[in-house]
Amino acid sequence: MAILITGGCGYIGSHTAIEMTKAGYEIVILDNFYNSKPEALRRLRELAGREIPFYKCDIRDAEGLRRIFSENSIEAVVHFAGLKAVGESVSKPLEYYENNVGGTVNLCQVMAEADCKRMVFSSSATVYGMNNPSPLREEMPTGAVTNPYGRTKYIIEEILGDVCKADPEWTVINLRYFNPIGAHESGRIGEDPNGIPNNLMPYISQVAIGKLEKLSVFGNDYDTHDGTGVRDYIHVVDLALGHVRALDYAMKHKGAEAINLGTGTGYSVLDIIKAFEDANSVPVPYQIVGRRPGDIAVCYSDPSKAERLLGWKAERTIRDMCRDSWRWQSNNPNGFDS
Ligand code: NAD
Ligand code: WQD
Repeated sequence: MAILITGGCGYIGSHTAIEMTKAGYEIVILDNFYNSKPEALRRLRELAGREIPFYKCDIRDAEGLRRIFSENSIEAVVHFAGLKAVGESVSKPLEYYENNVGGTVNLCQVMAEADCKRMVFSSSATVYGMNNPSPLREEMPTGAVTNPYGRTKYIIEEILGDVCKADPEWTVINLRYFNPIGAHESGRIGEDPNGIPNNLMPYISQVAIGKLEKLSVFGNDYDTHDGTGVRDYIHVVDLALGHVRALDYAMKHKGAEAINLGTGTGYSVLDIIKAFEDANSVPVPYQIVGRRPGDIAVCYSDPSKAERLLGWKAERTIRDMCRDSWRWQSNNPNGFDS
């Protein structure tokens, strides 16, 4: 029996593939390489210490998926594949709905045909939207999202809930990630964004290495301890371990469950700059600019449900996250093209 990981060559999927292999799961990876590279697959196989089966396949391709299910005995799917750039989703909403929502519906249909009815899904804290106060808890209302990307996550959670209601044989765990950063301790795999990064940590890393001149801090007039935005940053390896526990749980339970994966602690943009400089002894020049549209002041999790249900909690510190991000960036200045 094996676990299918969709999007397993991407940032979070590659780290999860390694931790799942270490935990003793047999895995099969699918990816269309839209936002990842064959070199990531090569390195994750090297770190896992085995020849993990791989299919270059798109989740919208039903025939391609059927082939994977007929050639392997898949008992659950850990579903990462999707597009994730918030700004791009505003200009290309149909691509996001087609890929993320359409692709997930297609995947579920092929899973049901193959009688595989267990899924761990990559949802996001973004489903909590603008109106809930932190710490964010799973039972709070979702849906007041501000962009098409976030809406795809909200819609998929709703669809998966309907699937579980219609057929009690289904199990779905919607993992709501907060802000994943950091990289594998080996420095061999990490986040490799195309072009200029949108997210804070890859931007900081590229400033530190001199590829970008300085960080723009988006607003210092929020109602936070230093005026800059506060987020719940979580080490990608802790996140990966959360998936292993969620999968263990999905093997023994039925129905739909939403679970936060965060640390429960918020750090501001200036806190992160300082932590990065301290951990790595490199300067990160920055300037304060206006707020980024759509940003909220504060977003952090109540992580207690994950601890209660899964027996999981994040263990790596902000210093670990900064150190590992920098190790990845400095060892691989051009990402997987280095
Ligand atoms: P990523 O882009 O690095 O990985 C996604 C992978 O899916 C890529 O390798 C890409 O090539 C593949 N993919 C995309 N569309 C596909 C398709 N139609 N068929 C097959 N493969 C496809 O992103 P990531 O940061 O690893 O995120 C993984 C998941 O977690 C995504 O669903 C993302 O929305 C979600 N998520 C990410 C974050 C974050 O901050 N990184 C936060 C919350 C949720
Ligand atoms: C973090 C903080 C910025 C860049 C996004 C998605 C969310 C989820 C995770 C997928 C904020 C500030 C950033 C910069 C800055 N993804 N910042 N200068 O916006 O919390 O979440 O990624 O589901 O859906 O929206 O993450 O890393 O972009 O920003 O000052 O150049 O850093 O304003 O306070 P965000 P981020």
